[in-house]
Amino acid sequence: MLSSVRIAGRRTAQRVLSRASSSSSVVASASASTASESKYIIAAATTVAALGFTAYNNNVNNNTQNTTACDAASDVQEKFGTYWPRNIMILFGPPGAGKGTHGPKIEDLLGIPQLSTGDMLRAAVAAQTEVGKKAQAIMKAGGLVSDDIVVGIIRDRIKEPDCKFGFILDGFPRTLVQAKALDKMLAEEGACVTKVVELHVPDSVLEERICGRWIHKKSGRSYHVKYAPPKSMQLDKDGTPVAESMKDDETGEPLMQRPDDTATALVKRLASYHGETVPILDHYKPNGVVKQVNANQGMADVWKDVLGSLSR
Ligand code: AP5
Repeated sequence: MLSSVRIAGRRTAQRVLSRASSSSSVVASASASTASESKYIIAAATTVAALGFTAYNNNVNNNTQNTTACDAASDVQEKFGTYWPRNIMILFGPPGAGKGTHGPKIEDLLGIPQLSTGDMLRAAVAAQTEVGKKAQAIMKAGGLVSDDIVVGIIRDRIKEPDCKFGFILDGFPRTLVQAKALDKMLAEEGACVTKVVELHVPDSVLEERICGRWIHKKSGRSYHVKYAPPKSMQLDKDGTPVAESMKDDETGEPLMQRPDDTATALVKRLASYHGETVPILDHYKPNGVVKQVNANQGMADVWKDVLGSLSR
């Protein structure tokens, strides 16, 4: 049941919906996994090949004279995917901190998928799966869905082939119970969380960010009436965006606002963030993996600092 929600990154909402309504096998079916798997594995293989091809070629020079660069990349990829530790990142921060803004860029940079439990749950709600029906009202009010549900979703999702080299967790873990469950499932393969990037923003700026957000549902592309307006946006005489004019820049399709992006729900979301999620930072700090980024600045500067936090 839980594994009926097995989703890729934020920008893959369309694929997500079809996958969320698929059957409950834990390992993705070949057809479901192929697109996301190939995207990330090719990206990772290219990176790995670029880094390791020379060394690899020197080591096995005599045996690989007829091996094409593509075969070599595939071999190196297989080696890294089998023997090297996975890069397991947590993208951390309150609602509106910029996880959905910067996550896709980290995804592109590292060639590993961003796994957003919020997106997975929204897909389950849209598909009206069993999990979706349970989560719907809780999410709309800004509450937290039960640990059992989200732990089950993540447990299944990280077994999929596109997570072979690692993954970026967005919106998970959100409680200490979830963090400990994550550590336990990673420990089963001798792995652990390798980086926690905390996007730090004062609560005072979040209401404007959350209430000004508009989303293109199919792609997950995010806009903001002030900071990232769509090209089509028109304002009425009071300066409020005209809903009908809010269209996706790429497809021209209508944008929407999330049902939990209200000032009232935000109060509850922030309360659970400070009460239940922030203690997770202290849980990981002793491991030396927590990096704080000032996310209360322009998006370009936040990204520069995120890049700094990712490097060794
Ligand atoms: P989820 O989808 O995870 O939402 P969230 O954590 O509240 O985060 P958001 O997506 O709202 O914020 P974001 O940081 O991605 O902001 P963005 O980059 O878009 O969870 C939703 C719900 O699902 C939860 O409430 C819960 O019910 C449930 N749930 C999910 N995971 C769960 C779990 N593990 N356990 C239990 N329940 C779970 O930015 C926001 C806006 O600001 C955008 O418009 C953007 O353009 C703008 N912006 C971004 N950066 C800047 C900047 N630097 N300057 C100006 N504007 C900016």
